[in-house]
Amino acid sequence: MKNGKFGFGIIGCGVIGGAHAKAIKAVEEAELVAVCDIDEPKGRAFGETHGCTNFYKNYLEMVKDPAVDIVCVCTPSGIHGDGVIAAARAGRAILCEKPFEIKRDRISQMIDEVEKAKVKCACVFQLRTYPNTIKVRNAIQSGILGRLTLADAYLKDYRSRAYYKSAGWRGTWELDGGGCLMNQGVHGVDQLLWLTGLEVDSVFARAKHLVRDIEVEDTCVASLQFTNGALGTIVGTTSCNPGVIRRWELHGDNGTICLAGQNITQWATAPIGSDEMAKECKPEDTEETAGGSNNDNKVIGLQGHAFLMNDLIQALKDDRDPYVVPREARKAVDLILSIYESERTGKDVKVPHY
Ligand SMILES: NC(=O)c1ccc[n+]([C@@H]2O[C@H](COP(=O)([O-])OP(=O)(O)OC[C@H]3O[C@@H](n4cnc5c(N)ncnc54)[C@H](O)[C@@H]3O)[C@@H](O)[C@H]2O)c1
Repeated sequence: MKNGKFGFGIIGCGVIGGAHAKAIKAVEEAELVAVCDIDEPKGRAFGETHGCTNFYKNYLEMVKDPAVDIVCVCTPSGIHGDGVIAAARAGRAILCEKPFEIKRDRISQMIDEVEKAKVKCACVFQLRTYPNTIKVRNAIQSGILGRLTLADAYLKDYRSRAYYKSAGWRGTWELDGGGCLMNQGVHGVDQLLWLTGLEVDSVFARAKHLVRDIEVEDTCVASLQFTNGALGTIVGTTSCNPGVIRRWELHGDNGTICLAGQNITQWATAPIGSDEMAKECKPEDTEETAGGSNNDNKVIGLQGHAFLMNDLIQALKDDRDPYVVPREARKAVDLILSIYESERTGKDVKVPHY
């Protein structure tokens, strides 16, 4: 820490690395002090663009730099574990991009290392930071919808052929860990679980690549059985042209709340225990917000990343957990892996809970 600012180091100077660099600038107590990429010309050019000439080719060296307090892991999903574990062993706090990792045993190992090192580690699920989603989550957790009965996520994105060709790891099992669900859809799956606070008991799913020439799925439907008895649906794609604004539809025996992007499109409740039809009663202070794009991976709002960076800094100062801890972040990945297993086996699959 220097001049009251926490030093951030970024591993992976690609698309999301750029969003991290811009968000760091927007956070008062943050400063970009190191950048790392295996592609040296790319990493050095990235550093110059963002005003940081302290470049590393090897992340094992960067995490030991005394100027680095917080390591942003912005590498392809299937190697997040390398950066997280190295940073934990070096005693650094960590902000890891979604998905936290793509395999359950690797995630368990990462959590063990973070806990053993007693470092703060947060995962980027920026949808959790938006005012309207926080409002919906708080309302549902307060019991406003009564007993939850049905919870759906419709996550219909578009990704072009050029997107999948833009980096060798995209659309591969080894490094992307899956397709439209593990990469793009993981945000929406996390949001479904977080808004409802429910856990999925079992899942039956179909997942195909119908449009793009990739080994992983670009189109997926899953039927969910939650542990409280509720049912749900996840529809995830990157094959809709163009995509449709993402929707979450949440129903209890006492009401309905729906979100489209960051906007609340329906909020209706009935008196608890009554037989009345629920009436629209959206809170008056609800704001309309323009969302990001679900057609272009380069259109990323900075607000969510800045929120999570600032939160991690406050977590370090107050010695508390950050906003999205690894044990929470793994839930969406654990569910998606069960969805893939159901597609492979043709069977209903129990979702493990850690
Ligand atoms: N939160 C979000 O909304 C969001 C948006 C986009 C991407 N992401 C996530 O961010 C991660 C990266 O995605 P991207 O689109 O920026 O990918 P990208 O391919 O644009 O960038 C990845 C960078 O990592 C570098 N790299 C690879 N291996 C490395 C290593 N061992 N050490 C150092 N650098 C290494 C590559 O050279 C590349 O520059 C993925 O996990 C993705 O899911 C999150």
